[in-house]
Parts: sequence; C-alpha cells; structure tokens
Amino acid sequence: MRILFLCHAFNSLTQRLFVVLREEGHEVSVEFDINDALSVEAVEVYVPDLIIAPFLKRAIPERIWRYHTCFIIHPGIPGDRGPSALDWAILNREKTWGVTVLQANEEMDGGDIWASMEFPMRFATKASLYRNEVTQAAVEAMLLAIQRFQSRQYKPLPLDYSAPAIRGQARPPMPQADRAIDWQQDSTEVILRKIHSADGFPGVQDKILGKELFLYDAWEERRLQGRAGELLARCGPAVCRATRDGAIWIGHLRDKNDQHPFKLPATWLLGEQINDLPETQANTQEAYPEIWYEEEDQVGYLYFNFYNGAMSTTQCERLRDAYRKAVQRDTRVIVLMGGNDFWSNGMHLNIIEAAQSAADESWRNINAIDDIALDIITTESKLTISALRGNAGAGGVFLARAADEVWTHEAVILNPHYKDMGNLYGSEYWTYLLPRHAGKENAQRITQARLPMGIREGLDLGLIDAVLTRTKSTFIGNVKQRARELASDPAFENRLAHKSRIRKADEQRRSLQSYRDQELERMRMNFYGFDPSYHVARYNFVYKVPKSRTPLTIALHRRTGEKHRSVP
Ligand code: COA
Repeated sequence: MRILFLCHAFNSLTQRLFVVLREEGHEVSVEFDINDALSVEAVEVYVPDLIIAPFLKRAIPERIWRYHTCFIIHPGIPGDRGPSALDWAILNREKTWGVTVLQANEEMDGGDIWASMEFPMRFATKASLYRNEVTQAAVEAMLLAIQRFQSRQYKPLPLDYSAPAIRGQARPPMPQADRAIDWQQDSTEVILRKIHSADGFPGVQDKILGKELFLYDAWEERRLQGRAGELLARCGPAVCRATRDGAIWIGHLRDKNDQHPFKLPATWLLGEQINDLPETQANTQEAYPEIWYEEEDQVGYLYFNFYNGAMSTTQCERLRDAYRKAVQRDTRVIVLMGGNDFWSNGMHLNIIEAAQSAADESWRNINAIDDIALDIITTESKLTISALRGNAGAGGVFLARAADEVWTHEAVILNPHYKDMGNLYGSEYWTYLLPRHAGKENAQRITQARLPMGIREGLDLGLIDAVLTRTKSTFIGNVKQRARELASDPAFENRLAHKSRIRKADEQRRSLQSYRDQELERMRMNFYGFDPSYHVARYNFVYKVPKSRTPLTIALHRRTGEKHRSVP
C-alpha cells in the first residue's frame, strides 16, 4: 500500500512505525503537520491508500478525513481522549495502559476503533513509557488495524461509553496544578510520580533556592535524609533533595527565564549556589544512577544512562575513567550497556548551545567521545560488546561500532548519520570503523542515507552483528547468557589473538591517529569555518524550532511534484 504519515515531527515512535511498514513492503511517505493547506496538498499529490497519524497535535482537516481513511494512533486505552493521556495514566496509578488505533472523524480521538493493545505500566517517566511500551504496542496495534483494513471485511467499532470494554474517558490537558509538589506532604513515591508524568515535557514547575524551575530526570535516593525540600548533596549533573520520607535526585532542570531556556544539568543551572553541597560518588546504581559497573562470571557490564542519550565532555570523561577501570579488572568480556532508553545520541547539544563558545565546547566534546572510542578500539585484553537496549543516533551509533560486536533486539532504531545536524562530518573514527565492519560499499550507503534504520538493515549493512531477542524485556537476560558463553568459550584466547592481529595490521596500513586527524579537520571546519549550518541546525534542534517543510528524504510525494488526483 501507499501510506502517508501525517505527523507533528518524525519522532521515535513515527520512525519505528515507518521502518516496520517499509519492512512489511509498504511504501511510506511523510508530511509534517505544518498547516491544513500543506496537508491537503500532500494528500492530493500522493493519493495514499491509507493515512496514518502516529504523532499529531492538531485535528486532521475534514477535507482529508472525509474522503480518506485516516488512522490516529492514540497513546491511551479505548475511550481515552485528550492530549495528556500518559500523564493522567501515570498520576492515576493505572496498572495497565494501552494504545488505540482509531479512525479520524469530526470528534478529536472520538472515532471508530480499529485496534487496541494493552501493556502493564512501569514506574518510569512518560518519555520512557512512550519510547518503549507505547511504541511496541503501537506497532502491534497498527499492524492489526492494517490487516483488518486490507481484509475489507472488518467494521471498526464505534466508541460507545456504555460498553463494558470501554474503560477510558475524555480527560483535559493536565495543568501544572495537578502535578504541583508539596514537599512537606507528598511522599517520595508521589513526588517521583508527579515528575515522571511530565518528563520529557513540560516538566514539573517548582522552586529551588528561590528560582522558578521545571524539574526532570528524577530518581529515588535510598540513604540520604534531611528536612523536606532541603538540598542535601550533588552527584554528577544531579542534586539530591530531601522529601518527608527520604530523598530524590533531580538530574535536569529548565529555567524558562534563563538566557538558556532549555533543559540543562541541575548542577549547571544552580551554579555557585550549590558549591557547598557535599559531592556523592556515583559508580553504583545507588545515588544518581548515571554510570555504574557490575561484574558477573568474568564479564563486566558498564552502564551509562545519560539523560536523553546525550554525552557531554565531562560525562565522556567520567565514562572513560569508568571504562579504564573496567579494563583493569580480571574479566574477559566488557559489555557496554548504554542507557535504558538510548544507548547514545552523541555530543550533548544542549550543553554546547549553552557554552560560552559553542565551537570550543563542540571541539572538546567530540574529542572526549573520540577518546572513549579510541580506548574501546584499542582494548586488547578483552572482547568488547555494545549491547543496545535503546536506540542510538549520530555519533552514538559509531561509538557503539567501536566495540568488537554490536548486539541489539528487534525494537531498536538506529540513526547512523550526522547530516541533519547541519552537514556535520562526524568523528568517532567512523572512517575507520565503517569500512572495517560494514565494507567500503556499505559504508558509503550508510553515510549517504539520512533515514532511520531498523535492525534488518543494520544487520545487512554490518552496523549490527546479532539480534538477540524480539523485544526488550528478555534482552538483558540474553545478553548476559551470551556474554558468559563468550567468556567461557574455549576459543576465547584465539579470538583475542585474532582481534589483536587485525588491529596491528590495520594500524600498519593506516594509523588510528591519522583517521582521527582527518575527521577532526573536517569537524574543525564545521565548528569554526565560514559555513554556519551546524550552529544553525543545533540551535533549531535545541530550541525545538518547528520545521517549515518536510525533508525530501522522507516526503517521497514532494520529490516529483506530480499531482495525481484532487481531494474533492
Ligand atoms: N544532545 C542533547 N539532547 C539530545 C540529543 C543530543 N545529542 N539527542 C537527543 N536529545 C534530546 C532531544 O532534544 C529530546 O529532548 P526532550 O526530552 O526535551 O524532548 C530528547 O533527547 C529525545 O530526542 P528526540 O529527538 O525526541 O528523540 P527521537 O528518538 O525522536 O530522535 C535522534 C532521536 C537521535 C534522531 C534525535 O534526537 C537527534 O537527531 N539527535 C541529535 C543527534 C546528533 O546530531 N548528535 C550530535 C552529533 S554526534
């Protein structure tokens, strides 16, 4: 089928559905919901068999839904309506939640139901639930709805609130008042739930040290205690704040009145005001769980759960220290576990944007990532694995490829390109790693592409070596089993020797330093040269400037400009 996506942005859910449908043999074109006229024009030009709205903030114009079947993917159970579906589900302690595919009509979220899928709720942020459970349920519900649509036999169910199966209800947008924290009264669990319900957007509005701020990235602290509301400690980017029955860590804040009104590490925004707070070391899952290390059966597991997968210079330095310590341990395999939602998304664009010199900070940041990549590539005493629990983007993909093997599960999406960030050339030794693992031809294809990639393509192109499980839930168990097998493999020493021989031969052919120098020369031009594209693209990304047109890479219908048929 020819399927047109109408969406607010090409976000992670939209990307996953896009990849799945293309793998199923459908043709998919994308139009951003910029205004009604452009959406109508897209439908006229493309003449789709089906329209899907995976992530839409406005109603579909009547001129479209009246003449075309339009599926709306709603992140709520049947009957649920409104723009704060997950926010309410979290605050209301729903035990299960779901995704519904309904047909667009004159009532927002009120159309006939084509399919729905439920999942157990996890105590996690809204964004994390969205990227994991909601996305997986959306894939399954969408495929079922399409199968029903293609059968031409299925009649979608009208929304009938008197039916026992309809558990949801219409809910208003959630105001700040509903998640406002009362530090004297609310328990730790309630405070975490409130912050989770607004993370990644809009954040919970609160006051810290007299400043109006939005809170994100909250975690429970199990040991520290103090007077409710008081700041107790700092750890990496986070500050610890006492609750009436414990304490929490807050990793990120946003100050809408600041010169940099976007999310930044809490310690950055609070600055000198928190200089006197005691520093807590975080190298376990306790405290602020950013970087931690575990060991089992001669395998070391290094977790780096950076918020949004963004890796700043200091985070890279901390990670490199942790990696170096892991290499010193008496183990045979190191598994780089990344974060739960993202393995890595490369340089920390928000911190770069807020730096005094964005060019200098970009330079420091890319060098710090390169230093980690170098350590991984040159690890001779162990086999190294990147285990992708979540998606990876830009430099994060190439950093993963620095390990000997890359393992994933089927729900992972890769964005192995930098071009959308103002034609950034990229580094992380990709000019060495891609031809080495993917071959010259595939390396070319990977770097030319600007599309999200599913695991099938990733395997074909040599970005991934093994897909261990269908879903994420069983992935860690499988990673551990396979890593254990690798560590106890009788051929382990041979494999290590083989790896070392290849590295030496590669180094003789061309040194890693020369790859790095050449990549960084190009990056220097991106950061300091006359062409400001990277700085403009980064600004637009960090400030979330809405796109004024859909990129031609995904808007197939806009490539030819050919008009097929008019919407009546
Ligand atoms: N630096 C800072 N923040 C980043 C980031 C980065 N490198 N990558 C992602 N984020 C943030 C986004 O701003 C967004 O923030 P929010 O919580 O305020 O909404 C959040 O992470 C999720 O990103 P989003 O773009 O919504 O996720 P996605 O899954 O839809 O898309 C990417 C993933 C990787 C395609 C996209 O985030 C991206 O292009 N990131 C930039 C990658 C990059 O160019 N890195 C620098 C070169 S190495």
